[in-house]
Amino acid sequence: MNTLYYFVLIPMVYFSFAVFFVGTGIRLVKIFGKPKQSTSLQIYPEKRPQWLWALHDTFLFPSVRKHKPILWIFLILFHACLLLLVIGHLELFGEFRIFQIIPHEIFLGKGFVGLILCVALMFFLFRRFLSPVRELSVPEDYYLLILLFLIVLFGSQMDWARRWYGYEELLVEDYRTYLLSLLTLKPELPYNVINSGHSFMLVLHVFFANLFLIFFPFSQSMHSFLSLPMNKLRRG
Ligand code: HEM
Repeated sequence: MNTLYYFVLIPMVYFSFAVFFVGTGIRLVKIFGKPKQSTSLQIYPEKRPQWLWALHDTFLFPSVRKHKPILWIFLILFHACLLLLVIGHLELFGEFRIFQIIPHEIFLGKGFVGLILCVALMFFLFRRFLSPVRELSVPEDYYLLILLFLIVLFGSQMDWARRWYGYEELLVEDYRTYLLSLLTLKPELPYNVINSGHSFMLVLHVFFANLFLIFFPFSQSMHSFLSLPMNKLRRG
């Protein structure tokens, strides 16, 4: 069992991040290296300043708001929580004073970041079982949503157990030692990380997160890098 935990928590994490960075880099270089579109993709009436409208379209999804307001609410919540999730994971490595502008315990969000993400992902998944979205969906759509749901569920379970149910065997200090050791290329697995009752949750969380990182450069998640340039083209 310990060999399996070791494999998922150390070599697989390095491998996944390597695929993520190299794969994403190569795909971006290829996409941005393509010859320029000769015809304009701009939409009219033109609104200025164009960059501000491109930001507005990218982060506020106005056409979704207009046509599918409930989907829009979940999309905004989901993306806001993703941002908090990045901050939360950074704080697992160490204290950042800038993130403590609003004082909080780590993991930030009192468990609600994970809860909101779980509910939003279930909404995104179940809407794909109903017509007409079902007819427009491909297997990758389901695969990605289920994968994200599993990552979020196991990540949140660890946080909820500690915060809401007083579980104290696997603490932020344990994650910190483990994550910092990965970062400094001197990997170590503290005793609690692999021997606590909740170690399997961490291993499952990291296993599914690894799959997501490997899959990322080849999936529609690449839209996170492409959405702003695309909207800039549309706004001129
Ligand atoms: C290899 C990469 C990753 C590692 C090592 C990692 C590790 C962790 C750890 C140690 C926690 C803390 C649990 C606690 O507070 O007890 C956590 C929480 C969490 N992680 Fe990750 N994680 C990774 C990637 C991801 C990814 C890619 C996602 C989602 C897309 C994600 C979503 C979450 C969520 C939702 C929580 C709980 C947030 C909350 O409700 O407080 N993680 N993660």
